[in-house]
Amino acid sequence: MDWGMENRLSRLIQADGRCLFLPVDHGYFQGPTHKLENPRKTIEPLLPYADAIFITRGVLRSSVDPDKTKPVILRVSGGTSIVGKDLAYEGITTSMEEAIRLNVCAVGISIFVGTDHEHDSLLNLAKLVDEGEKYGIPVMAVTAVGRELQKRDARYLALCSRIAAELGARVVKTYYCEKFERVTRGCPVPVVIAGGPKVDSEYEVLQFVHDGIQKGAIGVNLGRNIWQTAHPVAMIRAIRAIIHENASPEQAQELYDSVKSKKQ
Ligand code: 5RP
Repeated sequence: MDWGMENRLSRLIQADGRCLFLPVDHGYFQGPTHKLENPRKTIEPLLPYADAIFITRGVLRSSVDPDKTKPVILRVSGGTSIVGKDLAYEGITTSMEEAIRLNVCAVGISIFVGTDHEHDSLLNLAKLVDEGEKYGIPVMAVTAVGRELQKRDARYLALCSRIAAELGARVVKTYYCEKFERVTRGCPVPVVIAGGPKVDSEYEVLQFVHDGIQKGAIGVNLGRNIWQTAHPVAMIRAIRAIIHENASPEQAQELYDSVKSKKQ
């Protein structure tokens, strides 16, 4: 592996082989998402506990100070909106030149397997990988499901994740599901777990993150289930303890409760 590629990956994936990526890119198709209306306010308290942020260039420039930030994974696909006809119809929105100018550690793109736009989204991934490999910039592929949340089962996610790896993604972001080991076993590159819409209890999140790690994920790319909770700092610290300190869900819950009670 070339030096630049290895250097960037080592800034994203920590020495213990694990990672906590914080996605705040949701506005690129959802607009001012709940609790992300003012991105700076959401991001700043959480940044010390994240290994990297997943973000668009617009929010990066407007809401993150360049001298205080963590490694950046730049969201470079988009072109659709929640009120439009088809969320799967994404293109590449940001050039590799811009990614280099922003000194990012990786770029991220969604793929939409099984949709009318499967072919285009997969070729977009392959082209992005060609460009990224030229400049030593890893590509993180996001196995997106749009509005079809019911698609998130092991068979489908294993298919998507493997295809993303075959096309050259260096990291795959996919959803947690039952029998998650089928996803990680079939994917020869590191897998990180996305959270999806906010679930009812914090403990449920701690449990699925823990289970996903036991079943082969190297970490998370978890957004709404952190920053849409009542105590985002307590939540990110609890998740961090599972990822980097091998905490059990119960230990993580204890940490959550203690940080929450100190109002940190
Ligand atoms: C949004 C994304 C997010 O990065 C991804 O869905 C993870 O965030 P969340 O945990 O909120 O689902 O790709 O387009």
